[in-house]
Amino acid sequence: MKAIVVQSPGGPDALRVAELPDPVPGEREVVIDVRAAALNRADLLQRRGVYPPPPGASSVLGLECAGVVSALGPGIAAAQIGDRVMALLPGGGYAERVAVHEQMLLPIPPGLSFEQAAAIPEAFLTASEALFTLGRALPGEWVLVHAAASGVGSAAVQLATRAGARVLATTSDAKVARVRELGAERVVGRESEDFAAVALEVTGGQGVDVIVDLVGAAYFAKHAACLGSLGRHVVVGLVGGAKAEIDLSRVLSRRQSILGLVMRTRSVPDKIAVVERFRRQWLHRFADGSLAPLVDSVFPFVDAARAHERMEANANVGKLVLRVGDGA
Ligand SMILES: NC(=O)c1ccc[n+]([C@@H]2O[C@H](COP(=O)([O-])OP(=O)(O)OC[C@H]3O[C@@H](n4cnc5c(N)ncnc54)[C@H](OP(=O)(O)O)[C@@H]3O)[C@@H](O)[C@H]2O)c1
Repeated sequence: MKAIVVQSPGGPDALRVAELPDPVPGEREVVIDVRAAALNRADLLQRRGVYPPPPGASSVLGLECAGVVSALGPGIAAAQIGDRVMALLPGGGYAERVAVHEQMLLPIPPGLSFEQAAAIPEAFLTASEALFTLGRALPGEWVLVHAAASGVGSAAVQLATRAGARVLATTSDAKVARVRELGAERVVGRESEDFAAVALEVTGGQGVDVIVDLVGAAYFAKHAACLGSLGRHVVVGLVGGAKAEIDLSRVLSRRQSILGLVMRTRSVPDKIAVVERFRRQWLHRFADGSLAPLVDSVFPFVDAARAHERMEANANVGKLVLRVGDGA
């Protein structure tokens, strides 16, 4: 099969198309013929050699895909050849075929293309875990979502608002209008406004209830200023750095929680539980149109380097997708 590999760690031009052996499905695994795979920020780090795949995972980039089940391993209970599926992966998505546990599969919602479906798993599962499993966001609460035009951010804005929460979102100034369209009540342009001041203003001085933090250290001091009593600060991404100083007296007196989220390195049973929660609570909302993956652009598989350049330039609004084969 053809796959995109990293020839040696570096910039986007380190990506090459290579011929690799087809995956062999293990116990309860299926092979997916991949029709589309989506990019994630982590792919850029792996390409640069600073985020190696977890033990046992494919060294091929790609944390999510959509396609058709083409082979079944031993012990399969439910999956069938020909199923149209999307899946969260520990790696291996930038390839014509990938093996994955059958309980990690989600059916592609009716009406969605492979390219739209590939944009769902990592963004929406990460966002739902951050908002609801860790953040325990409730209807009527204020949720602050950073990098709200990113894959994860755009999913978080949709899920939070559909759950009845009130969303204050941040993004770069040029993307403010697009984020407003996703349903956020107030969108702050990060170059021109102070999100902490706006958070205090919209909450009448109380502070927000949940922070979906895709930025990390650069915003830590401002978070201390605008997270309310019993607030939940969920650390999901570190594009703004990993090392921050914290005033614990404030955390203590306001009875706040700081929670970390990671998806890729979790065990298969743990990820199956994440997939199951999402299937039960949210999957049907794609069929009725109340949730929709936000696709920025689609690139042919062989142009993965150009897609990486676009993500690295922070130019995308929503997900960048690679079309594998003819994508049909
Ligand atoms: N914990 C996990 O398991 C997990 C899983 C998936 C993703 N993540 C994290 O979630 C984040 C989003 O991932 P993604 O793949 O959806 O990203 P993405 O689509 O590449 O979007 C990232 C966006 O972050 C904003 N940004 C970049 N540098 C920034 C900075 N220094 N300060 C503030 N904003 C900045 C930019 O948007 P603007 O132009 O709007 O500022 C950029 O487009 C990443 O941090 C990623 O590592 C974590």
